[in-house]
Amino acid sequence: MTGAWGGKDRHIVISGGSRGLGKTLVSGLLDAGYRVSSFSRTATEFIQQQAGNDRFFFAPADLSDKSSMATFLKSAESLFGPPYGLINCAAHAADGLLAIMSEEAIRKLLSVNGEGTLRLTRLVVRRMLLAKTGGVILNISSISSLRGFRGMSAYAFTKGGIDAFTRALARELGEQNIRVNSIAPGYYDTDMTRNLNETQKRQILHRTPLGRLGVPEDVVGPVLFLLSDHASFITGQCLVVDGGSTV
Ligand SMILES: NC(=O)c1ccc[n+]([C@@H]2O[C@H](COP(=O)([O-])OP(=O)(O)OC[C@H]3O[C@@H](n4cnc5c(N)ncnc54)[C@H](OP(=O)(O)O)[C@@H]3O)[C@@H](O)[C@H]2O)c1
Repeated sequence: MTGAWGGKDRHIVISGGSRGLGKTLVSGLLDAGYRVSSFSRTATEFIQQQAGNDRFFFAPADLSDKSSMATFLKSAESLFGPPYGLINCAAHAADGLLAIMSEEAIRKLLSVNGEGTLRLTRLVVRRMLLAKTGGVILNISSISSLRGFRGMSAYAFTKGGIDAFTRALARELGEQNIRVNSIAPGYYDTDMTRNLNETQKRQILHRTPLGRLGVPEDVVGPVLFLLSDHASFITGQCLVVDGGSTV
């Protein structure tokens, strides 16, 4: 891909590139000419297939572990230079009514989706500020930050936080030409939604004007757009990619 759409060799860090939306985004970013570094706790077959691709770097790391984030970023930077972009994609999902949710489930949601995302972003932002080349941060939130879904209150707490974070950080970093936006996917066919039962799927399809669940490829175009220079005057926004389910 060339011109304002293309990656121009820019280095993009994406969390959770081993499976689901992250995996498809890694492929889309590589195809568009970006250099990509990613991590997750476990390497998948997809990651193994990238061995030998000198535009891709992967290391196992846990978003909730501060020191493993710093180590990952140092290695990624030594290969590809300071990141031009960060996509905060990795997240933990847990559903259940808050009243009976375990302490451990709450702790994990907050430490991965909340603290982990904040700390990784802080690390990357510091590198962007030193590089003085501008940059782009894209936070993958969720339509659960926009609408109420029963059984999703704790997860929604973290995703609503991500959208609020996006707006505030956009104000903090605009002067340095670092744009910060979020993408709110609806329901996608990934491991995260594998435990939806048939009735739940039917209900989702019923209220989705485009009549289907999302597939990971549906987020690639919006991500490439927001990363690109075509979006150079867009910051602090949340782009909803949900087949219309929240209209
Ligand atoms: N699927 C949907 O319908 C949907 C809807 C709305 C929003 N989203 C959002 O879209 C993003 C991607 O979701 P997805 O459906 O692609 O999820 P997924 O299929 O469950 O994949 C999650 C990715 O994050 C990684 N990850 C999870 N916990 C991690 C940790 N502690 N440290 C490092 N990596 C971790 C996973 O790898 P490991 O497990 O190996 O670490 C995996 O690569 C998430 O932010 C999610 O909230 C998804």
